[in-house]
Amino acid sequence: MPDPCSFLSGPGPARRRMKIMRVHRLKGLVIAAAIAAAPWIVEANPARADDTAPAAVDAAAAKKLYLRRSCIACHGKDGQKAIQDYPALAGQRADYMVAQIEDILSGKRVGSPDASGNPRAKGMRGALVAPDGSRRITEDEVKAISGWLATLAPPPIEAVATPLEPDKATAAAAMFAEKCEACHGAAGREPLEGYPRIAGQKHVYVLAQMKDIKSKARSNGQSEAMQTILDDVSDADMELLAAFVSAQEPIAK
Ligand code: HEC
Ligand code: HEC
Repeated sequence: MPDPCSFLSGPGPARRRMKIMRVHRLKGLVIAAAIAAAPWIVEANPARADDTAPAAVDAAAAKKLYLRRSCIACHGKDGQKAIQDYPALAGQRADYMVAQIEDILSGKRVGSPDASGNPRAKGMRGALVAPDGSRRITEDEVKAISGWLATLAPPPIEAVATPLEPDKATAAAAMFAEKCEACHGAAGREPLEGYPRIAGQKHVYVLAQMKDIKSKARSNGQSEAMQTILDDVSDADMELLAAFVSAQEPIAK
């Protein structure tokens, strides 16, 4: 399926807004098509029909692989307790995760330097790709783990010492609706096919990714679709949006 947001790269904020509205209308169609074409929908979680998890996820086998392939060391139990500024994975879309893992393994997704001075994705690649370039995880294993993680409940949203003040929260919500919702869905919960769910994702991680996508330190996959939007978004606005996004319940209550 062609990338429904690829036509967003044209110039001009007004034109872009108009086009985002077109994406909005497209979204229903995209999801309807995904549902129609998705015989692999995971039985255990029928509400998440837009997830492209592989057929009959063998949860026990996938969980074992998640331990054996060392994912747990960085992303925590069941993808819910990631260390440092690493991403939570539970409840993320399977198709998005498969693409990202493959991009990290192949070196297409690298990222800016982290606190230790290494590119952010280097540790994961080092754990899963031997120095001679051979993989320590197969493509089928990547699909099995991703399919399983997608069926798990996202972690509860982080407790924060100082939540956004009401006027800032209102401004952030409006900015999100204008600039982000067309692709990531209301409050970041219902992204387009292949795009990440961001509601409730860790604050530091969300901010790091926005900055990396804006600076092109992260330019893999479909991140170009988002780059043009970020041209107009200041550092202060990115802080505001990250605080807003991370405070949203991953699943509407
Ligand atoms: C040494 C630590 C480490 C290990 C081991 C590791 N990861 Fe990661 N992973 C990371 C970091 C750090 C990132 C984010 C990189 C960045 O910020 O660009 C990441 C990113 C990801 C992403 C992309 C998430 C997103 O929202 O874009 C997925 C999916 C993922 N890892 C899955 C896995 C799986 C599955 C395994 C085991 C097979 C694994 N990781 C092993 C550290 C690790
Ligand atoms: C035109 C579509 C589009 C728009 C608009 C958009 N994004 Fe994205 N965003 C994407 C795509 C696609 C990716 C994943 C890129 C990839 O394939 O690696 C992404 C990735 C992200 C990520 C990283 C998620 C992760 O798990 O690593 C964050 C955070 C994010 N977007 C936040 C935002 C915010 C906040 C806005 C509004 C300012 C926004 N996006 C606007 C398409 C978009």
